[in-house]
Amino acid sequence: MINIQQDILPEKERPIGVFDSGIGGLTVVRSIINKLPKEHIVYFGDTARVPYGPKSAEVVRTYAKEDTDILLKHNVKLIVVACNTVSSVALDVVQKNSPVPVIGVIEPAAGIAAHTSKSKRVGVIGTLGTIASCAYTSEIRHHDPDITIEGQPCPLFVPLAEEGWDNHDATRLVAREYLAPLIEKGIDTLVLGCTHYPILKDIIAEVTGPAVTLIDSADSTADAVLHLLQSKGLLRNNDIPPEYVFYVSDVPHKFREIGERFLGRELRNVEKIGNIHIT
Ligand code: DGL
Repeated sequence: MINIQQDILPEKERPIGVFDSGIGGLTVVRSIINKLPKEHIVYFGDTARVPYGPKSAEVVRTYAKEDTDILLKHNVKLIVVACNTVSSVALDVVQKNSPVPVIGVIEPAAGIAAHTSKSKRVGVIGTLGTIASCAYTSEIRHHDPDITIEGQPCPLFVPLAEEGWDNHDATRLVAREYLAPLIEKGIDTLVLGCTHYPILKDIIAEVTGPAVTLIDSADSTADAVLHLLQSKGLLRNNDIPPEYVFYVSDVPHKFREIGERFLGRELRNVEKIGNIHIT
């Protein structure tokens, strides 16, 4: 195994760094691997302090700085903020503290949503923090000020996705409850603004029906990563298979089972790092 985190590697060979509040960001890693199969990836999931969604912006901003520092120690060429909550309330913190480019999940998905909607009514679902921040609203309006955005926090989707209830009547019931107000308002586009929601995509699509296009923020972010690396001449073009390394701040129960479901492949090279201060 090559050491992908050593300083002497040429820039193209350095890993993409991805961080999230926990395991959920593995859906973003999955999309990046599908789109960019030659790239090395270093992931950090703050599993000791998850969830970030219900926490205040002030606390999430403190965590975001620490998560950034952890990734920067691993010689990354780019930081992807997989967590929608961090991307909503603390992207500026990450940008300010990072000497390498930073991509959040809001901007890529917002751009696609703005261009997809014909009815000019877009729904956004996410954590309490993401919806309260109105980050998606500002970003979508930046593309098209005539669009009306209907935000809906869906906090129960996070444990349901982790429980693996992606085809369960309890999830269907919760989805109907959360999504009914958005459907009533005539949305034709729905942004899945949380790392966990791609896992529940089928049930969400079943409830919204075929008239609503779902925008997966993980997929749009992977596209943005491709474009950014391409434009900077930083794409790894090496046929030696890439390495994936996963750091977490805790190894919770069912970590591997949930992680493999989110990542869509076997989860190897997981290491717990110790110095996270739990507040
Ligand atoms: N990763 C978070 C997000 O995408 C969801 C889980 C949490 O609340 O930390 O917003």
